[in-house]
Amino acid sequence: MTPATSLFTPVEADLQILADNLIQLIGNDHPILYAAAEHLFGAGGKRIRPAIVLLISRATMLGQDITLRHRRLAEITEMIHTASLVHDDVVDESQMRRGVPTVHSLFGNRIAIQAGDFLFAQASWYLANLDNLEVVKLLSEVIMDLATGEIQQGINCFDHGISIETYLKKSYYKAASLIANSSKAAGLLSDVSLETAEHLFNYGRHLGLAFQIMDDILDFTSTTDTLGKPAGSDLKSGNLTAPVLFALKEKPYLEALIERKFTQQGDVEQALELIQDSQGIQQARELAAHHAKLAVDHLAVLPASESQQALVNIADYVLSRLY
Ligand code: IPE
Ligand code: IPE
Ligand code: MG
Ligand code: MG
Repeated sequence: MTPATSLFTPVEADLQILADNLIQLIGNDHPILYAAAEHLFGAGGKRIRPAIVLLISRATMLGQDITLRHRRLAEITEMIHTASLVHDDVVDESQMRRGVPTVHSLFGNRIAIQAGDFLFAQASWYLANLDNLEVVKLLSEVIMDLATGEIQQGINCFDHGISIETYLKKSYYKAASLIANSSKAAGLLSDVSLETAEHLFNYGRHLGLAFQIMDDILDFTSTTDTLGKPAGSDLKSGNLTAPVLFALKEKPYLEALIERKFTQQGDVEQALELIQDSQGIQQARELAAHHAKLAVDHLAVLPASESQQALVNIADYVLSRLY
């Protein structure tokens, strides 16, 4: 399920190694947890986070091969991401992920929580074994941020008064922190300057925000089949994302519908119509494009290379992705 095949070309072989390693890294001491985690790793996913780590690794190690540490960082990044999805699907009661049934729907909530915990714990162990304190700090902050993001989203449920700034802060915790911190960590493993490391962080931060905004748009504009996960679920569950927050400014009646949590028949449909009839989706797209552009600006710090160009192209891909 990797996106547009040419997008990750410079790290295609690296991603193949990563896919094999991910399954091995889980180990099979606990057959059920192994089966649960393997189920999701096996289904793939777009692998955009490890691809970014590997591309930054290559773009900052020109003329040399990347190290085993760079590879391990990419693996840890995908492990943390996958762990967060296993837990998220429990919270959201989602039945499908990556085109296959979710871990909790197959194995039950108890196993899903344990499998997620197990993946986080293993990721932490492999992280500590990188023997680089700065990198440990960056990635352990991500694990805190992911939890913070889920909690904030729960607290803000059905709150139509939240600002775009609050939404972006939550999106940083939920999505951008992992890309930002792993991008910076990849640079640190290549011994880049602190200034370059900060640019890499900001590339990841803006790209991650654009990615999350587009994800929130796709929830309105795409289908469950295309996405491989439930579409149209954010609004119903009270997760008010960029398209809704913009639409609220134009369509005050949305407020009343959200206020009563769509409890009357036809409320959700009516809210969706109001959103479709507003500039909300278009304005959200513009916000995503703004962050994608800022992301690309930060790449100017890297010398031109095939990998650097691929990182630029990923910003375009994020804006045009269909799933
Ligand atoms: C889903 O991430 C969670 C978000 C932060 C939006 P992806 O869309 O990258 O999921 P996979 O890894 O490709 O399944
Ligand atoms: C999932 O968030 C990502 C994390 C919690 C880190 P969402 O609930 O917004 O994303 P999907 O739509 O299930 O992938
Ligand atoms: Mg979800
Ligand atoms: Mg969620």
